[in-house]
Amino acid sequence: MKTNNVDPSAGAWIETIDKSRLPEHVAIIMDGNGRWAQSQGLPRIIGHQAGIKSVKKITRAANDIGIKALTLYAFSTENWSRPETEITGLMTLLCKFLKIEVESLNKQNVQLRVMGRIHQLPELVQKELALSIEKTAMNSGLILNIALNYSGRADIIDAVSRLAVDIHAGKIQANEINEAVFQGYLSTSDLPEVDLLIRTSGEMRISNFLLWEIAYTEIWLTPVYWPAFNREHFYQALIDYQKRKRRFGGTVAL
Ligand code: IPE
Ligand code: IPE
Ligand code: MG
Repeated sequence: MKTNNVDPSAGAWIETIDKSRLPEHVAIIMDGNGRWAQSQGLPRIIGHQAGIKSVKKITRAANDIGIKALTLYAFSTENWSRPETEITGLMTLLCKFLKIEVESLNKQNVQLRVMGRIHQLPELVQKELALSIEKTAMNSGLILNIALNYSGRADIIDAVSRLAVDIHAGKIQANEINEAVFQGYLSTSDLPEVDLLIRTSGEMRISNFLLWEIAYTEIWLTPVYWPAFNREHFYQALIDYQKRKRRFGGTVAL
């Protein structure tokens, strides 16, 4: 089986990335913050703090190389089942990140977006998100899309619900529904197809992330915990992606 263990000389591989064949949209399940901290005898929240540093690094790396959209899974609808102190800690870290980083995102021409049931997040978080989104709305570089209180199933249900409202209002007929129409109701509707999905921490599962969207997505797994994931790992995933033969059910690689 092919593994994704990282060569320490990965830095040199950056040169080998073909800029004309980049994935347009990369999604990442940022996993392993807690285990990274615990492996050093530190509390889980220190892992989340360190995870934010990785977010900054990978955002920069993606923008530098010319990726169009980066979707980061930051908080799932199932993560509410964690201890309250961890949830509060995560929300506080998110607000701090937004406050401190918005200027840097602007300087990098990064446009911030969010997806998920944002209306169920603490009000302060909603306020900070709205402010940062507004401040970066005109940027034309990387789209940094953060999935918060998100799950693939919830997003599909929300799409069905919006579609039902439009059917009821007579805006669309039931017999007009097809994949393209349905896709238009999902949170990712105005983003490119997800070409590459990365999961850190060695887990081999989707954990309710983009379910509809990953039908033909290439998957890259690494045992590296998210706080230890760096630019070289990210570029290694891109290089590996470029070696894949995507057939989309056919016989010829596209
Ligand atoms: C990912 O790291 C961050 C969030 C889900 C918020 P975890 O917190 O899941 O860390 P592990 O997987 O327990 O090590
Ligand atoms: C997935 O990680 C969710 C995020 C990265 C936000 P989890 O740690 O919640 O997933 P499981 O519990 O290992 O499946
Ligand atoms: Mg986890």
